[in-house]
Amino acid sequence: MKRTFIILGLALAFAACNGNKSNSSTDTTTTTTTTTSASSSTTTVKDTVGKALIAKNDCLTCHKLDQKIVGPAYQDVANKYTASADVIDTLANKVIKGGSGNWGSVPMSAHPDLSMDDAREMIKYILSLKK
Ligand code: HEC
Repeated sequence: MKRTFIILGLALAFAACNGNKSNSSTDTTTTTTTTTSASSSTTTVKDTVGKALIAKNDCLTCHKLDQKIVGPAYQDVANKYTASADVIDTLANKVIKGGSGNWGSVPMSAHPDLSMDDAREMIKYILSLKK
């Protein structure tokens, strides 16, 4: 009888001790996480303006970044053109006036309420998606 108590007592003491040990060991375990910065250094303020304008307008009902819906994927548009003042103006005009022919026979709707400046910002953002 006495012996079982001693064994029980020892077992309890051991368990308690173990518990403490494992606690302290988790405390001291430092997880070293290397934080890789996800922010792209190529993103400029202007890109964000263009992106916001695209989100505010109806563009995303016909366009996706990486997939053709009604209109071409923005990444495909970016890959087709090389950004220059001329190209940006031409594409900005096209967004304002609408039209078809470069990607197929389905026309893009006109956006006559857009200013040329806003349209340019959107085009700059789209062309920045080049892969
Ligand atoms: C009604 C659907 C629709 C909407 C809304 C729309 N687009 Fe388009 N978009 C198209 C189609 C269709 C084309 C392909 C036109 C073509 O073949 O020339 C296109 C083409 C484009 C092109 C490439 C033009 C070229 O000549 O290569 C750009 C840039 C573009 N869209 C930007 C925008 C922006 C910015 C908006 C929002 C202001 C917008 N689109 C809204 C359907 C749409």
